[in-house]
Amino acid sequence: MVIEIDNLALHCEVFGEGEPVLFIHGFPLSGEMWRGAAEALSDRWRCLVPDLRGHGRSAASAAASMARYADDLAAMLDKLREWRPVVVVGLSMGGYIAFEFYRRHRARVRAMVLCDTRAEADAPDGAAKREAMAQEVLKNGSRAAADVMVDKLFAPGVSPQLRQHWHDAMSRNPPVGVAAAARALATRPDSTSTLTTIDCPTLFVVGREDTLTPPAPMEAMARAIRGARLEIIEGAGHMPPVEQPGEFNRILRGFLESL
Ligand code: MLT
Repeated sequence: MVIEIDNLALHCEVFGEGEPVLFIHGFPLSGEMWRGAAEALSDRWRCLVPDLRGHGRSAASAAASMARYADDLAAMLDKLREWRPVVVVGLSMGGYIAFEFYRRHRARVRAMVLCDTRAEADAPDGAAKREAMAQEVLKNGSRAAADVMVDKLFAPGVSPQLRQHWHDAMSRNPPVGVAAAARALATRPDSTSTLTTIDCPTLFVVGREDTLTPPAPMEAMARAIRGARLEIIEGAGHMPPVEQPGEFNRILRGFLESL
């Protein structure tokens, strides 16, 4: 469905009924990456799968930041009349947004699932590469970002068809939205000090072969939060929900049932 927020037509898919679960996608992807998980869990949960502004079927906007994405999601919950605290599931950039959502809308968070993500901000050289990517995308289209990202997202054993599917999907995103997201990533706040404040049930999930956000630092994040644990998914890189959907969905269902 389309939801008007901040004068932008933002897209959100809703699957099933039950306790709410909010899925936040990574960069430069869309809610499509969560569709399999949302469908699998829709027998028992109300799964909300937005496309962030400037991604997927949502309108593009040159204005973006982790805070704005988080506030869009809170406004979306209002429009969906979803007043109950949600389980927030975020992957990579979706995790950075989940930290921001937690800081800004704590009362709306029931639990968190942080996948293939990190707490630190970009180092200056990383931020400079993002700015170069933003400029390249504005000049030559989102394919420029897709070309860079497709090599980083998947474990080496992934099928060429899956790689191609996501390369195409990333290439279709509006350049204005992808460039704004790259700049928002470059300027995102450091969330390390947020970790010790997290007092809701928290699960970390990472692909064993994730080179962008590898298992070791995620293990350290899980140790920083009382009661949190880490699940490592074999045979997956940075995208376990689409690389190893059966195992990912099993782990997520187990966590949701435990709440
Ligand atoms: C993502 O998957 O959201 C990106 O890899 C995030 C990042 O580049 O930091």
